[in-house]
Amino acid sequence: MNTRPYIEKHRERFIDELIELLKLPSVSADPSFKKEVLMTAGAVKINLEAAGCDKVEICETPGFPIVYAEKIIDKNLPTVLVYGHYDVQPPDPVDLWNSPPFEPVIQNTEIHPEGAIFARGACDDKGQMYMHVKALEVMIQNDELPCNIKFMIEGEEEVGSISLEWFLENNKEKLANDVILISDTGMISKEVPSITTGLRGMSYVEVEVESPNRDLHSGLYGGAVANPINILSKMIASLHDEDNHITIPGFYDKVEELSDEEREKMAEAPFDLEDYKKHIGIPDVHGEKGFTTNERNSIRPTLDVNGIWGGYIGEGAKTVIPSKAFAKISMRLVPNQDWREITELFKTHFENIAPKSVKVKVKPHHGGQGYVTPIDGIEYQAADLAFQEAFGKKAVPQRSGGSIPIVSLFEKYLSSKTVLMGFGLNSDAIHSPNEHFGIWNYLKGIETIPYFYKHFTELYKESKK
Ligand code: BES
Ligand code: MN
Ligand code: MN
Repeated sequence: MNTRPYIEKHRERFIDELIELLKLPSVSADPSFKKEVLMTAGAVKINLEAAGCDKVEICETPGFPIVYAEKIIDKNLPTVLVYGHYDVQPPDPVDLWNSPPFEPVIQNTEIHPEGAIFARGACDDKGQMYMHVKALEVMIQNDELPCNIKFMIEGEEEVGSISLEWFLENNKEKLANDVILISDTGMISKEVPSITTGLRGMSYVEVEVESPNRDLHSGLYGGAVANPINILSKMIASLHDEDNHITIPGFYDKVEELSDEEREKMAEAPFDLEDYKKHIGIPDVHGEKGFTTNERNSIRPTLDVNGIWGGYIGEGAKTVIPSKAFAKISMRLVPNQDWREITELFKTHFENIAPKSVKVKVKPHHGGQGYVTPIDGIEYQAADLAFQEAFGKKAVPQRSGGSIPIVSLFEKYLSSKTVLMGFGLNSDAIHSPNEHFGIWNYLKGIETIPYFYKHFTELYKESKK
């Protein structure tokens, strides 16, 4: 394939186009960015048209629109459906960015001496999604497109993909495909390409603990009335035992247990604990007894408080027993755990452990199932061959701790298998201040993707013989 010379020739334009897309603040979680989210959908549409898609549509949904596009060259050839998202996480805390989150800048880092683009969404997922748009352009311009391609780029991934489920249910025929290809995960390092073979599920809830019906003077009432923040803290603390197991009854009942052999295989992936600690500045790691760091953040379920608030947090000191305390809690789930069931188990348990002195409310937010991809199918093989051609080495299969809840629904509604070819690095700071995406990773992704189409099409034809 003639991919590399084309990328080298158009390198600056490829970077500039991504920078333009990153200037749009498509924050799906914050209603005040609604206009910008819609503008981003429009920009994605224009880019897909420019890359050479025949049909590009903005599909309205009950929420933010989905950009759908296709390039169908021959009904007898396989069809790859590319999924990605154009929405981004809120940039907060904005003070901690070295440059404004929606004014992209290129800066060199230790890991990215060729430069990295700093902006919210650079890696998750505008940069990785845009690799696919440019890969299509390269294949069309070089006359090397081997199969049919469809694109489905949504604007609500970061808030739970609610409208996308509705869209899948109502557009099964339009979205028919032979495999779904996603770049919205990471790779082990620039030297170690990897294919993500698992994603965790999720149950996200918000809790409220209420005691007195108004804030009280902590001298007049303190000691005699339950303080909701004290109580909430104690309740949250009790959700883990001294071995860091989660204490919710039934929580582990359906957890998939890996064989010793599978665990040994996992442990072969390159990993340096000292490096890991150094990069995120922690004195030591923490987690469930009996499991390694890589197991804790991929094959084991977790429970984490994402935010906690209540009482007085302004300047100086105010003496008060607050009326209410709140927390947002997420549970990362592993295959076989059912997110609705886990949400129920959490709710029952949380209500049970509340002392009589308080009232509690548990409000479910969103959730999704975990997923494991098979490694014996042609889509895995094609991805592995693509990495071999672009990187000169085999990809390492890797279970990720992150979640893309819609992936399990692709299987449910479209009977599709998914292959996850990620090009981000853990150090790219997705969801954090100073998110960035290496220019090397961006261009390497554009180079690798066409090989996937080539090998997938060849393997597909062979399998039909
Ligand atoms: N792209 C990420 C998920 C991801 C990142 C998976 C890196 C594997 C490696 C995605 O945009 C994301 O952030 N998902 C959310 C879930 C969603 C329901 C809010 C997550 O994992 O927190
Ligand atoms: Mn993402
Ligand atoms: Mn994300």
